[in-house]
Amino acid sequence: MAPEPPLLSMEGITKSFPGVRALDGVDLTVLAGETHCLLGQNGAGKSTLIKVLAGAHRPDSGRIVWCGEEITLNSPSAATRRGIATLHQELDLVDGLSVAENIHLGHEPTTAGFIVRSAAARDRTARLLERLGHPRIDPAAPVGVLPAAQRQIVSMARALSHDARLIVMDEPSAALDPDEVAGLFRIVRGLTAEGVAVVYISHRLEEIRRIGDRVTVLKDGRSVAAGLPARTTPARAVVSLMTGRDVGHVFPPRPVRATGTTPAPAVRPALSVQGLTRAGEFAPLDLDLWPGEIVGLAGLVGSGRSEILETIYGARRPTAGTVLAGGERLRPGSVPRAVRAGIGLAPEERKTQGLLPTESVTRNVSLACLGRFSRGGWIDRAAERAAARRATRSLSLRPDTPDAQVRTLSGGNQQKAVLARWLLRGCKVLLLDEPTRGVDVGARAELYAVIRALAADGLAVLLVSSEIPEVLGLADRVLVLREGRVVHTAEARDLDEHRVLDLVMEGSPPV
Ligand SMILES: Nc1ncnc2c1ncn2[C@@H]1O[C@H](COP(=O)(O)OP(=O)(O)OP(=O)(O)O)[C@@H](O)[C@H]1O
Ligand SMILES: [Mg+2]
Repeated sequence: MAPEPPLLSMEGITKSFPGVRALDGVDLTVLAGETHCLLGQNGAGKSTLIKVLAGAHRPDSGRIVWCGEEITLNSPSAATRRGIATLHQELDLVDGLSVAENIHLGHEPTTAGFIVRSAAARDRTARLLERLGHPRIDPAAPVGVLPAAQRQIVSMARALSHDARLIVMDEPSAALDPDEVAGLFRIVRGLTAEGVAVVYISHRLEEIRRIGDRVTVLKDGRSVAAGLPARTTPARAVVSLMTGRDVGHVFPPRPVRATGTTPAPAVRPALSVQGLTRAGEFAPLDLDLWPGEIVGLAGLVGSGRSEILETIYGARRPTAGTVLAGGERLRPGSVPRAVRAGIGLAPEERKTQGLLPTESVTRNVSLACLGRFSRGGWIDRAAERAAARRATRSLSLRPDTPDAQVRTLSGGNQQKAVLARWLLRGCKVLLLDEPTRGVDVGARAELYAVIRALAADGLAVLLVSSEIPEVLGLADRVLVLREGRVVHTAEARDLDEHRVLDLVMEGSPPV
């Protein structure tokens, strides 16, 4: 008996954009019922490959074979009709529409308008949400008000509404906390048990081990390994395939600090937060952040982490308390004051809060300090460009094209553009909210080294991350938050991942 053909095989796919060969003869084979992980550094071509599969990009050459038959996918609806559903890296939900409307958006236009208003549509939506284990999401709620994890679920429900046989997820876990990732994995296992195949993209290698059956690795638009066993291939081997080198030490060494030493009295904290509160979001917080110190805030999404950073930055008004930068008391709720006092924030939602997608890389990077390049009313473009380029190169932002529009960069490289901006600005206090979301392992190590080097130069860093190993590896001192309250403070070297997880989940009594 002939073996079943693979569900999907993509063979020799190439795709170029002006000046960039994003895919250069990529092969990908996916079997029914498997979770196939797609790995690669930022810009390796992962999203481009799955956009080809989603019918969003036409490949320049190559074949797509679906259930043994060669097919052409010349539009997103052609892919949907075949049973290929995609959750893109940037979720394409319409904020103003309801959950039910979003889920039915991709269906035939004439029926969509009708279906969506009917009770049947709401029922159908409710059933899909139930199947995904989220019966409490309201089908009538506007999508714009939902938190990130629930938006993800809505996209997934939309994929399921098409009876997909293959669901592609482009970095679905990037915005989720550990609990929500566990929920996502339950859904993925449920789908594969029903024979649906899942293509899963993530930069978190431990996830690949937990959820993946096989792995394909892309590097510079080529597949350098196809169909490796996900659980037994050593992580080091995968990383060196991705990067073409050994990434030995991910976290830079901490400077030696004798425990219990108090800084010399002449030195002021770079940032001093006293009784800072936002009713309903976080309880009074006291924190002194010293020059050269990296402090991590660990906690689940919703524990008040981001709200604390935004309040320090002046983007939210505290209900009580004060913030001092370099000894100077800041006006509450004023971003310009905070910025003038040398505070920078690299926000979590880069797309909406951080970047101008149609502006060049240079302009996005120099945005926060254009004044520095103005000469008698004119902007010194050459100086602006050179300075921006130094910052992007120190983060290995790729491609190294200062004039490219930021929207053409891969997800992880957009991230680096935001960070480059704050590097260039040279602030005294840097607030980092999920700095490595979507950043590949190789670039992470570089980014950590850059942050550590800045700290060694006297920068004070307050870091929020959902990835506990990142907080423990990078920070000197860690505050663990639960429901808006600091429940534990310790030197990072005295904590381990399990202890922090215990504390953020249920926690011991506040100390
Ligand atoms: N619309 C576009 N126009 C020009 N170049 C593009 C476009 N889309 C992608 N590219 C380029 O193609 C290459 C591959 O990008 P892609 O988004 O596929 O990377 P990726 O592997 O998904 O990376 P990441 O992990 O950062 O999301 C990059 O060099 C990117 O800059
Ligand atoms: Mg991508």
